[in-house]
Amino acid sequence: MFDLIQRAIIPIVAAVLALAALLAGWVWVALLLLAVVALGIYDFLQRDWTITRNFPVAGRIRWLFYRLRPYLRAYIVEDDLHGTPYSFEARNLVHARARGETDTHPFGTERDVDAEEYHWIGHSIAPEPDPDISPRVIVGNDQCARPYSASVLNISAMSFGALSANAVRALNLGAKKGNFYHDTGEGGLSPYHLEHGGDLVWELGSGYFGARDKDGRFDAGKFRDNAAHDAVRMTEIKLSQGAKPGHGGLLPAAKVTEEIARIRQVPAHQDCLSPRGHSAFSTPIQMMEFAARMRDLSDGKPVGLKLCIGQPHEPFAMIKAMLETGIYPDFIVVDGGEGGTGAAPLELSDWVGMPLTEGLVLMRNALVGAGIKDKVRLAASGKVYSGMGLAENIALGADWCNAARAFMLSVGCIQAQRCHLGTCPTGVTSQDPGRQRGLIPEVQGERAARFHAKTLEAMADIVAAAGFRHPQDLQPHHLMHRTGPEKAMPMDRIHTFLPEGILRDAPDDTIYADWWAAARADSFRPGIDLVPARAAAKNIPAEM
Ligand SMILES: Cc1cc2nc3c(=O)[nH]c(=O)nc-3n(C[C@H](O)[C@H](O)[C@H](O)COP(=O)(O)O)c2cc1C
Repeated sequence: MFDLIQRAIIPIVAAVLALAALLAGWVWVALLLLAVVALGIYDFLQRDWTITRNFPVAGRIRWLFYRLRPYLRAYIVEDDLHGTPYSFEARNLVHARARGETDTHPFGTERDVDAEEYHWIGHSIAPEPDPDISPRVIVGNDQCARPYSASVLNISAMSFGALSANAVRALNLGAKKGNFYHDTGEGGLSPYHLEHGGDLVWELGSGYFGARDKDGRFDAGKFRDNAAHDAVRMTEIKLSQGAKPGHGGLLPAAKVTEEIARIRQVPAHQDCLSPRGHSAFSTPIQMMEFAARMRDLSDGKPVGLKLCIGQPHEPFAMIKAMLETGIYPDFIVVDGGEGGTGAAPLELSDWVGMPLTEGLVLMRNALVGAGIKDKVRLAASGKVYSGMGLAENIALGADWCNAARAFMLSVGCIQAQRCHLGTCPTGVTSQDPGRQRGLIPEVQGERAARFHAKTLEAMADIVAAAGFRHPQDLQPHHLMHRTGPEKAMPMDRIHTFLPEGILRDAPDDTIYADWWAAARADSFRPGIDLVPARAAAKNIPAEM
């Protein structure tokens, strides 16, 4: 009994005080206290929530703190370097660069340079006096009629739907002002993508939004019409994204407004799912044929593939299909498992998909090892937000990088992590016009462009310090990584970097021998039983 009184102390005290207030004639105070008593009785009798059933009214305090937790953590508890997914330092850097505020740091690094995750770029005694502050990369091999000159930093795929109309407008305006590209994401081409004339990469996922027939299959005519927009400079087939590989796309019902439904050609106010896989192809060879078809239908614009690497034989299967068909996509974007999303199952975000460094090195090795890196450009995405992010991925083999969340931050995102609920406080991911009111595209577009320019300047500083003019001169051995408290190694001693053509000439001499043997141009399934093959193989390094 005493235990029960303890647990129900709030409504009991409220009842006693209500009685006293009534006797004193304080009717309003008594009514207020009686409301607490009523709440206590409700909590005690309800059957859904154990905590409030056992601790009437008091149990609600837990909910209150549960709600406040993200804010308390972000504003009070979190230190500068350890917030996730983006630390306070990272968010602050993007915000400062976007707003044109000072982005220099006083008093030296706050990082623990003895920690295992620490890595650095080796600078030169002879720095480059005149680095290229806006390097470009030509995308488009000899099968492409209309090559595109890309910046080394671009806006990664994010759909209208996942983003608000004003966010799409702001990003596109930023792309226009800063001369970089804006990937539409898989949600189709919206009018907001076309308003400011920034360069677009039109992404097609397995839902073929913007180019689908009534059954959700690829519609060549619609694709041709949309790809003909001048602003569409390249097209891209989305195979997967790091935050939810193999899941397809998901736009929660709360965000599927009438307008989004119209653009995507799906029912409004229902979850909008892209299937897990594509219906337009099911083998590596068919994938290449589909890419070639898209390039033809778009009148020769570069076509690319975006994926997060999963099973290692699959990129090799794609390479074999390229070699067998003679069809080379113009670019491949490798997305890391650490990449962002509007909404995804936690297990997929946390535990499925290769992180960027490993995925990038594997794809770089597949292309270089097959001797086709000159035909297929390589891009990287996954938590790139700074000059260092650009420099290190380019050193590992990327021609350019894409960033999604960093550009969201640049147009006002505060990492409230409400993208999936439609209640984003900054209007970046909310379809609610009231919330979008805070995001003024003209102001935020300027910021996206400024963030881009300042980040390239920061990268150029690193490149110049290493003694180079162009980031492409950075190599894996310029990047050092701590591997233990007393040990650090250059990246080319941590990961394997294959020499040109070795996969065609002597694949068995590489660490990828089994994966290469398992890869087939006519199927994504392995062509050999990998279990005995790997059990029999000697000297398989830990990295694979
Ligand atoms: C809000 C949001 C929406 C996204 N939508 C798409 C999409 O439609 N298609 C896609 O390929 N990737 C999508 N992504 C993934 C990004 O394009 C990118 O691959 C990933 O976030 C890695 O970049 P980041 O780490 O710089 O955010 C989305 C990411 C976010 C944050």
